[in-house]
Amino acid sequence: DGNSAPAISAASMVVVSNRLPFILKRNEQTGQLERKASAGGLVTAVAPVVIKGKGIWVGWPGIHLDDPNEPIPESDPKDRTPTAGLLSKQVVPVHCDRHVFDQYYNGCCNGTFWPLFHSMPDRAEFSADNWRAYVKVNQEFARKTMEALEKVKEENPSATPTIWIHDYQLMICANWVRQAAEEAGIRCKMGFFLHIPFPPWDIFRLFPWSDEILQGMLGCDMVGFHIEDYCLNFVDCCQRRLGCRVDRKNLLVEHGGRSVRVRPLPIGIPFERFVQLAESANRVMLTNQQIVLGVDRLDYTKGLVHRLKAFERLLQKYPQHIEKVTMLQIAVPSRTDVREYQELKEEMDQLVGRINGCFTTPNWSPIRYIYGCVSQDELAAFYRDAAVALVTPLRDGMNLVAKEFVACQINTPPGVLIVSPFAGAGEMMHEALVCNPYEIDDAAEVIHRALTMPEDERTLRMNYLRRREKVHDVNYWMRSFLKAMGTLITEDGEETLP
Ligand code: ADP
Ligand code: G6P
Repeated sequence: DGNSAPAISAASMVVVSNRLPFILKRNEQTGQLERKASAGGLVTAVAPVVIKGKGIWVGWPGIHLDDPNEPIPESDPKDRTPTAGLLSKQVVPVHCDRHVFDQYYNGCCNGTFWPLFHSMPDRAEFSADNWRAYVKVNQEFARKTMEALEKVKEENPSATPTIWIHDYQLMICANWVRQAAEEAGIRCKMGFFLHIPFPPWDIFRLFPWSDEILQGMLGCDMVGFHIEDYCLNFVDCCQRRLGCRVDRKNLLVEHGGRSVRVRPLPIGIPFERFVQLAESANRVMLTNQQIVLGVDRLDYTKGLVHRLKAFERLLQKYPQHIEKVTMLQIAVPSRTDVREYQELKEEMDQLVGRINGCFTTPNWSPIRYIYGCVSQDELAAFYRDAAVALVTPLRDGMNLVAKEFVACQINTPPGVLIVSPFAGAGEMMHEALVCNPYEIDDAAEVIHRALTMPEDERTLRMNYLRRREKVHDVNYWMRSFLKAMGTLITEDGEETLP
């Protein structure tokens, strides 16, 4: 099925990410800890490799425990998710003081790095206290990673473990691990992947401790980004801030007597899983309506306010869509302790109210706005039955929603994807309609064009889009990462880079 393990493996992989691939919840009745699986594509691709290669996942369990030594529960026997086979001994939880974790996660990660790396410096706050918390938490992650490294080494003494650190929450972890591993005489390879954009030099240097970030990332042997632009920004920063010798053509950075590989590794989705979900999901109950769909975490980088305004403009300019078209916006609550996110929630509530108040007729409302999570089945049904998907972030590392929509387009005739040029996904999905979310008027025109596009053009565009995503799925990405590390083990043995 779509969840089956890929025919690739890597012995003794240690994955390090802010969140574990499941969260822990306490059962109110029994008082026992239980696992709650996450549905993300990353987990689908990476968990089987960790399970198969007897690796370990290091991360935050999503709960602050009074006793940090309380054991991690095994998975429920009925669990069919990709992490079901992950034994509790393959999980190393990271626990931190509540206040320090808050300064790290809400403060530094989501109050500073998130906006800055998305080129929105005005939204970023710079605080020495939060940075200190970030350093502290990264140090704790490094300590736990070292524990994990020793464990996998014990289990499989002949393997050279691969450590894979993920995302902006853990950019300065690597050097502590490298040092500790050297002192313990353990050889390992280290890779880092950034899931968000890497900004240009003149934005990056606004962060007062930016050199430390670069040095942290360069602690790895390979640093991966979604697209080449982010790679080049990183290489540029290494040269201009640290004075490193760089090779832009081969994407290499020299640092501390080592040569660090920089690689574009665009992430994909579990394509077949979404096809299967779309094939089995119930019909969406919005009869005789063309659905214009948006699916996002409620985040200011996603361009939701601009999107609603573009839809309003569409109804003003092309009243023939009134009572015929419904915008369905699903917004998942996210980072609700951060002020910027609370303000966006208010703004969205008001804007949806205003537009609906303005256009609603006795039989119809223009916008259906769901503030919450939907199940994977429902999500696939929305993707499948939508006439148009609006993926219009102001800035986005990749954007998986665009890819999931395309995978679920199994109806004939298919729908139309509209994508922003400021998302990594826009780089490669050439057959989508492109729309600059800042240009409200033009965005309204593009939505109109999508809604009225002839069937053969829709089919042609969607066929190309689907073909590409089917090949470049998340397992392909996993394989590319291992190849870039020189650690891909196929059925026929080990492959290494020249
Ligand atoms: P980001 O990583 O910034 O949240 P992406 O578009 O890359 O943005 O990934 C979002 C992921 O969250 C997708 O896999 C998508 O299916 C999932 N998702 C988004 N909205 C919802 C929702 N309302 N309910 C369930 N899953 C959602
Ligand atoms: C983005 C980031 C991830 C993060 C996710 C959800 O995709 O790249 O690292 O996990 O958003 O955000 P959260 O703050 O809830 O983990």
